[in-house]
Amino acid sequence: MTAAGGRRRLPLLLHWAALLVLALAARYPLQWLHSSLGSTPSPRSAMAAAAAPLMTLEQWAAAGPGAEVAYRTPHSRCTLLPDGRVQLAPGWDNSSSLPFLFDTASMPTRQAACGSCDASSHGVQCCGACMFGDRLCAAGYPGQNRSAAAAELLMRNGFPLQDLTPCELFARIRGRTLWFAGDSHTWGAFAAAECFLREFAQSLSRRPALHDPAENLALRLLSHVSAPACLELVHGTRVCGIRVDTAAALQTKRASTAPFHVHYSPFSDFKGSSEPIRQTYVRELTDLTAWRQQHALQLPRLVWMETGPQHFFTPQGLYPGPQAPKPYRCRPLQAWYQGDPETRAGSWRNAAVAPLVPRLADTHLRIYNASVPLWESHMPGECSHWCHPAAYELWVFLLNDVLRDSGLGSAVVVQRAMGPPPDAAGAGPSAAAALAAGAASPAVAASAAEAATAAR
Ligand SMILES: *[C@@H]1O[C@H](CO)[C@@H](O)[C@H](O)[C@H]1NC(C)=O
Ligand SMILES: *[C@@H]1O[C@H](CO)[C@@H](O)[C@H](O)[C@H]1NC(C)=O
Ligand SMILES: *[C@@H]1O[C@H](CO)[C@@H](O)[C@H](O)[C@H]1NC(C)=O
Repeated sequence: MTAAGGRRRLPLLLHWAALLVLALAARYPLQWLHSSLGSTPSPRSAMAAAAAPLMTLEQWAAAGPGAEVAYRTPHSRCTLLPDGRVQLAPGWDNSSSLPFLFDTASMPTRQAACGSCDASSHGVQCCGACMFGDRLCAAGYPGQNRSAAAAELLMRNGFPLQDLTPCELFARIRGRTLWFAGDSHTWGAFAAAECFLREFAQSLSRRPALHDPAENLALRLLSHVSAPACLELVHGTRVCGIRVDTAAALQTKRASTAPFHVHYSPFSDFKGSSEPIRQTYVRELTDLTAWRQQHALQLPRLVWMETGPQHFFTPQGLYPGPQAPKPYRCRPLQAWYQGDPETRAGSWRNAAVAPLVPRLADTHLRIYNASVPLWESHMPGECSHWCHPAAYELWVFLLNDVLRDSGLGSAVVVQRAMGPPPDAAGAGPSAAAALAAGAASPAVAASAAEAATAAR
């Protein structure tokens, strides 16, 4: 990202620069892969760190990175120490409370998230963290606890959701912008990440990704979707979303950020083309791979996120097309449980792109298998999009794992609070041993027990 490199590659970088270099460098230092947070603190500095005064978010933001102060989040109650370590609250592994990713009770009100948004926000869907575009499971399925049921199911399947704190994910991306570029599902993951990290934001309203409103609006893909939007976090950190539905749009929008996936459907796109959709998909992603290889030095690090499963009544669960009788009834993905090879490989889209991923991206975010069991938390009346919190929150959990394991995110030391929890008596047997900083999530979610549940 040197100036010389920029000049040499000017034709490409014009738009890149607008999005990534100018917009980010002006206010957000690009600390792509490097962070002092990775070093294990010496006992001495650890003691000093633990003794650091706790600040409010405003004080902590004003103090800047590196100040000898600590910040404790008000609801998730994790602490970020000055040396970058994350300290968990006493009783964080309390099995009787919902993991923070799924805890809607502590989420902000509409007034708090959207109160300061006006209608003329230049095409940016300003409103707002944790509103999820009104796709809350509790609204779609009143009284049914579908989010809690999804969280319980996932934890039974071996995903320790309660162990991921906003402090950890924030520390992984601190000083950088985490982009979600892709279709409506990717936007769902953006909304989940934004909500999860809200305790690091001084305002819960989204802001345009680019400083120039006209330029930002020009990056809007469709009139009914938001122009690129960000939740701005402290210490030069942002989490942003941009809608791009095709590989070609990804190149022209220059939103080459992490993570993204694309939208190729035999029913909605490319209707005029005689080329089979799989062929179009592979051809365009092959082009994107070549483009990425060619411009690797200017591009940020990329995470390729798998396409998630659908749970329609078709053999592989895929969308049956608009002619099929409605309402759709979702059902468990029988083909997966029966071992159908293409379904196990993530259906045709994931199977087709898998060989390209090592050159297309720096790492692969595998969400398909883990999401297979979640057939009961789609939006009412369809079997593709999910309500919140459910699958998209799982994807954020898995994203933290790949950012950690690939080294794309900063290394973060996570530790339990010193001393016994004050009210430990009520806590169940601890699953905590499973994870402090290191343990990876199981790659495969659905155990035999789960198969039995889903097949009922
Ligand atoms: C666990 O959570 C429950 C419900 O939120 C609470 O009543 C209990 O005190 C908590 N126990 C610990 C050890 O934090
Ligand atoms: C659903 O949530 C309500 C309120 O939190 C609780 O009383 C009820 O037991 C829950 N039901 C199930 C099936 O978890
Ligand atoms: C899903 O898990 C199966 C093993 O159970 C594995 O063979 C397959 O590669 C996984 N699929 C994806 C898309 O990760």
